[in-house]
Amino acid sequence: MTELVVVGAGGHGREVFDAATAAARAGTADWDVVGFVDDGDVDLGRLERLGVALLGDLGALLVRPTAYAIGVGTPEVRARLAARLSALPADPATVVHPGAHIGPDVELGEGVVVFDRTTITTDVRIGRHTHLNVGCAVQHDTVVGDFVQFSPGVFVNGDCVLGDHVFLGTGAIVTRGCTVGAGARVGAGAVVLADVEPGTTVVGVPARPH
Ligand SMILES: CC(C)(COP(=O)(O)OP(=O)(O)OC[C@H]1O[C@@H](n2cnc3c(N)ncnc32)[C@H](O)[C@@H]1OP(=O)(O)O)[C@@H](O)C(=O)NCCC(=O)NCCS
Repeated sequence: MTELVVVGAGGHGREVFDAATAAARAGTADWDVVGFVDDGDVDLGRLERLGVALLGDLGALLVRPTAYAIGVGTPEVRARLAARLSALPADPATVVHPGAHIGPDVELGEGVVVFDRTTITTDVRIGRHTHLNVGCAVQHDTVVGDFVQFSPGVFVNGDCVLGDHVFLGTGAIVTRGCTVGAGARVGAGAVVLADVEPGTTVVGVPARPH
């Protein structure tokens, strides 16, 4: 059986751990989640309460050929980690919580993580290492880039295009047919009604640059 390691033991990492272990328990993924690796300070008490080990820093993946899921929420940091990890013998896993719904003709790139109660309807492409947090929806014919971060409760309607490294704050809505350019940030609770320029931050209803 594949051994799965979660890279990053902070809050997002522990949520990725939950999605990965839930998939293993439900029998929808064939891996054993063996622990975390992390280069920073780790709250070991929290890992103890989860009953899972800290295996060491990222170097631990060198001696333990295995699969990994990156448990870091910030798109740029996740991209830097993915670049470092691509040199290792381990492979990125695609993690889907068993409570998520993935419809027909949906493509998930390597390293994608889909949390509980997220729905991806049909004819959707999700790029590499994009994470969709709890309770999101992505609708028909939408294309999502690499290293995109969906915070909890984000809705993206049909025919949308999200560029690489887009960050969507909690409860943001991207309405039908809108493009959100690469590296843009959409604030919590914002409603996107028109295209968002790459690299900009938009907030409010309707969403405007801040
Ligand atoms: C949009 C966001 C990224 C901007 O962060 P920032 O660049 O640091 O912005 P600031 O906090 O300096 O705020 C700048 C201005 O925008 C306003 N603003 C920030 N976020 C806003 C939001 N979501 N909705 C409405 N106004 C917002 C601030 O009140 C401030 O207004 P002011 O200049 O009149 O005082 C951030 O506020 C946000 O919404 N992040 C989402 C957080 C989230 O959902 N995390 C998920 C964790 S799982």
